[in-house]
Amino acid sequence: MTCNILVGGGWGDEGKGKCITYLCYNDQPDIIARAGVGPNAGHSVEFHGEKYGLRMIPSGFVHTGARLLIGAGVLVDPDVFHHELDYLNKYHVQGRTFVDYRCSIIESEHKEQDKASDYLSKKIGSTGTGCGPGNRDRVMRTAKQAIDVDSMEGFTADVPLEVNTALDEGRDVFIEGSQGFGLSLYYGTYPFVTSKDTTASTAAADVGVGPTRIDDVIVVFKSYITRVGEGPFPSEITQKEAEDMNIEEYGTVTGRRRRVGLFDMDLARESCMINGATQIALTCVDRLYPACERVKDYSAVSAEVKRFVEEVQDATGVPVTIISTGPDLEDTIDLRDELL
Ligand code: GTP
Ligand code: IMP
Ligand code: MG
Repeated sequence: MTCNILVGGGWGDEGKGKCITYLCYNDQPDIIARAGVGPNAGHSVEFHGEKYGLRMIPSGFVHTGARLLIGAGVLVDPDVFHHELDYLNKYHVQGRTFVDYRCSIIESEHKEQDKASDYLSKKIGSTGTGCGPGNRDRVMRTAKQAIDVDSMEGFTADVPLEVNTALDEGRDVFIEGSQGFGLSLYYGTYPFVTSKDTTASTAAADVGVGPTRIDDVIVVFKSYITRVGEGPFPSEITQKEAEDMNIEEYGTVTGRRRRVGLFDMDLARESCMINGATQIALTCVDRLYPACERVKDYSAVSAEVKRFVEEVQDATGVPVTIISTGPDLEDTIDLRDELL
């Protein structure tokens, strides 16, 4: 029986989608439960040469033996949910994907308000997906729940009951967070943050699992940092510098160009502390050190890469167990057997 949580350590887009796919395909948990804010997320999954962009359905869908659940703390946009059920038809997600009946629903007015508000769309740089107004209505206790809307009929479940029963019976549960530490409503760069805490404790609460049941907290960091939207970014570099280093990026949900910066040891340390990290997954190492592209064996990476990995471990006191060397789930160095 294991219950592991994966969360982002930066400002989102750390490559959680890639790491979740790898871990779920390999470890084959019985339940993959999505935590986090809602459809503002854009996870990229690359599997057997095909690319998927996901906003609601758990990124672990490639493991076709798992039940895919969305926790009560996550905002659900029924249009996005049904679109993704169709989009991932090939993976037989129908019949195994359910949302908690208490999930708040994002309605069209939430999306309109998100986009129409200059404060949210311009000052904060929100994704326009209705998450802020959706969470506001939950706090105001006027939001609809999944159980209240016709379009979610037949797609609801009691997620905490399923998850805790699975753990009681010795089965494995994997909880996927979204966004990142720097976007936490409490611990991020307020007010330039999302509408909810994004740390591991909240991810557990999102799916209804108590803190005593968690085994591992895996925090994902990209080898450089990206940020979309406004707000402080101490290690930011210029667009030109990012282009010269070949690390420019564009957003999965909004298509916006991502701001780019260098790895920030202070941010990594704080993020590991508040998340209670037990493992680090380091992604896009190949983009910083192209010689290690698609390498799967740690002995084959350069001394430079090893030095970087050791620096991250020394700064945080947390072992780097997963090193991602390309977007496909196969491009992964897995050091868990050696380090844990
Ligand atoms: P949010 O939930 O939006 O925070 O997303 P995310 O953490 O899942 O990350 P997202 O998919 O938005 O962005 C990461 C990008 O990096 C995607 O384009 C991935 O395909 C890509 N990627 C992930 N890991 C690697 C890697 O190790 N190497 C390379 N070259 N690309 C990677
Ligand atoms: P909101 O969550 O749409 O309200 O956006 C608030 C801030 O969080 C903006 O800066 C967004 O760009 C950022 N944000 C929200 N979700 C993500 C994500 O999944 N990846 C990266 N940034 C995000
Ligand atoms: Mg993303």
